[in-house]
Amino acid sequence: MTQDELFKVLVAHCKEYGFIFPSSEIYDGLSAVYDYGQMGVELKNNIKSYWWQAMTRLNENIVGIDSCVFMHPKTWVASGHVAAFNDPLIDNKDSKKRYRADVLIEDYLGKIEEKMNKEVEKGRKRFGEAFDEAKFRETNPNILREKAKYDEVHNRYVAAEEANDLKEYKQIILDCGIVDPISGTANWTDVRQFNLMFSTQISNTGADDDKIYLRPETAQGIFINYLNVQKTGRMKIPFGIAQIGKAFRNEIVARQFIFRMREFEQMEMEFFCKPGTEMEWFAKWKENRMKWHRSLGMGDDNYRFHDHEKLAHYANAATDIEFHFPFGFKELEGIHSRTDFDLGNHQKLSGRKIQYFDPETNESYVPYCVETSIGVDRMVLAVLSHSYKVEEVGNGETRVVLAIPAPIAPVKVAVLPLVRKDGLPELAQKVVDEVKFDFTYQYDEKDAIGRRYRRQDAIGTPFCVTVDYDSLKDNTVTIRERDSMTQERVPISELRSIIDKKVNMSNLLRQL
Ligand code: GAP
Repeated sequence: MTQDELFKVLVAHCKEYGFIFPSSEIYDGLSAVYDYGQMGVELKNNIKSYWWQAMTRLNENIVGIDSCVFMHPKTWVASGHVAAFNDPLIDNKDSKKRYRADVLIEDYLGKIEEKMNKEVEKGRKRFGEAFDEAKFRETNPNILREKAKYDEVHNRYVAAEEANDLKEYKQIILDCGIVDPISGTANWTDVRQFNLMFSTQISNTGADDDKIYLRPETAQGIFINYLNVQKTGRMKIPFGIAQIGKAFRNEIVARQFIFRMREFEQMEMEFFCKPGTEMEWFAKWKENRMKWHRSLGMGDDNYRFHDHEKLAHYANAATDIEFHFPFGFKELEGIHSRTDFDLGNHQKLSGRKIQYFDPETNESYVPYCVETSIGVDRMVLAVLSHSYKVEEVGNGETRVVLAIPAPIAPVKVAVLPLVRKDGLPELAQKVVDEVKFDFTYQYDEKDAIGRRYRRQDAIGTPFCVTVDYDSLKDNTVTIRERDSMTQERVPISELRSIIDKKVNMSNLLRQL
């Protein structure tokens, strides 16, 4: 199966097993909006809980808040979103479809990269163990030709981005022969800027100053509450404020399932520090966040840093943590050193003094800020796409299993009476009573036991407990482990501790 096909199968699996549904499906859906089903919400809540605990429990100097989606409209003037939260868009006159000009160019560059990687793979096969990838890339004529093409377009693209030169974007698209995938033509409009914020009205007078925005990032809710938290919490610099909440962006190119949505959720932490110390904190938070990701055991090689060459006007350092999604390495989390840009601008626009008085040095200053920002939905997608596996199980049979890291799996244990009679369901209910206070569980007595195991594999349940005739005699059950499929006979009284050892979230937190 190609990665593309695999991704389509994953999307269908998410729907079939109650993880993620297209929103308003009975009305044919709403583009780039998705709902979480009964399994998806458990997975999502577990991810949020792991992040929240890692931030607020493991760091004495980080506290959480929950601010509103709506904020005073001046918030978005101060943050720069009214003036500059734009994407360059271009329309194809034949298909009438709209695209992000920068994405069209990046996709073109991505295809060149793919070609070079294919050439490397050919070389690897040809030369076997003696293969030296670095040397091959420096000398292979096909790669050198593609690399020259890549560099030329990339340099033009970076320059156009820096100069915000919309004409040059279009020229690059034309020069590279980029065509609309639907119409197949290069009949493009000019490139225009498009603000990504959704707006609505706060009252019903219809006046212009009633306009209010749906927050495009949760971070500003933290900045406008900086003084409240610092004073009421008697917080001393350095300290952080964490928040999880919805954000909204009118994305032009909404695609790749829950990777880019119009309504999504963010987990953001703003860490306030003394000016001049921000690079030290930036380095620490880079390391800290990578550790959090790797603790989930989804393969260290599936993550990489991508340091930004071009920095936003408010940042003096920025990096992305990229994950190896089925469609390549893409941004999962951003870590930015935002200087005093946000607090400084809120101070200017609100007229309130937003400063920290340092009792040790008797100085007052606007704190600097290092931000970590991760999309919950992207994290869900990372987990699901990594976990989805089709495995041979002998006799020409296969099983679909979601090998979700056990502490964040939606259902931790399934309780299954072998048959629906002879007192087995009653004993199984007693097993449920044993586990239900500690773990999410499912009780299932329908169909043959093999089919029930498959259903639990498909939603990623780490343990299945089967109650059989022997259980009636000796109060033991069979516990089956999802990944190895090994089965063990254990006393019912030991179930909780066996399951807990694998699924307790503290196992993850202890690694950080
Ligand atoms: N406060 C900084 C900020 O919002 P960002 O890079 O625009 O920075 C941070 O977004 C994270 O939010 C991204 O790394 C991504 O995980 C997630 N994100 C951004 N836009 C998204 C979208 N349209 N759909 C899903 N997740 C998104």
